[in-house]
Amino acid sequence: MASSQTLPTINETYRQHELDPPKIPAHIAIIMDGNGRWAKKRLMPRSLGHRQGSESLRTTIKACVEFGVGILTVYTFSTENWSRPTDEVDFLIRLFKELIVKEIPELNRQGVRVRCLGDLSAYKPDMLAAIRKGEDETNDNNRLQLNLMLNYGARNEIVTAVNRLLASDIKQVNEETFSKYLYTANIPDPDILIRSGGDTRVSNYLLWQIAYSELIFTHKMWPEFNRKSFIDVIREYQSRQRRFGGV
Ligand code: FPP
Repeated sequence: MASSQTLPTINETYRQHELDPPKIPAHIAIIMDGNGRWAKKRLMPRSLGHRQGSESLRTTIKACVEFGVGILTVYTFSTENWSRPTDEVDFLIRLFKELIVKEIPELNRQGVRVRCLGDLSAYKPDMLAAIRKGEDETNDNNRLQLNLMLNYGARNEIVTAVNRLLASDIKQVNEETFSKYLYTANIPDPDILIRSGGDTRVSNYLLWQIAYSELIFTHKMWPEFNRKSFIDVIREYQSRQRRFGGV
């Protein structure tokens, strides 16, 4: 047992939370839904919900590092999100630019490598500069890869991949070679897809990649998602039997 002066070792932490170390998921994907409703319930502007949501993301990143999850892929902005009021879209872009630069020292301290994936051609130079800075300055880290999906939609991703193939000399692909044309090329598929906010749909997120992922839906709004919620998800995942179509 850890004494009161020392931090628990990772194995003690796993034991304390009844987690099975060999079954820690390698890759978690998240639809971070419910920021707006969380704020509305508190009579606050939606923007405060997004800001509080960024705290939940921070907590989740820390938990992934602590529990040894190697990849975290979060739905940061979808191709459909442009249809929100301009104020909200502008706020989300400003928040992203602020966070990705401000968080670099902490991400480096924790060993987090940032990747921004999606149709980035929609963004202005200042956003692209912030993205590049975040990626470049965390590039050497290897404890957690954080994929921030931006202007992302799974159907768009698949059609873009098909068009790239049609423009190439390649005449035939298989599942493995096709997946190299997706934004998530060379990233193993998620073991878990979490959606917060109470809805039970996948909203055009990682449609190809989640073929065999465990889907875990929580009624918690994203700003309420905390370390305990994260541990509960891992425990739920470990209680499921994955058969990948076998018996
Ligand atoms: C969905 O909640 C959330 C988003 C569209 C944006 C996700 C952004 C964050 C979690 C915050 C910041 C993170 C970064 C990296 C900038 P919603 O607005 O759809 O909530 P609702 O369904 O209750 O309206």
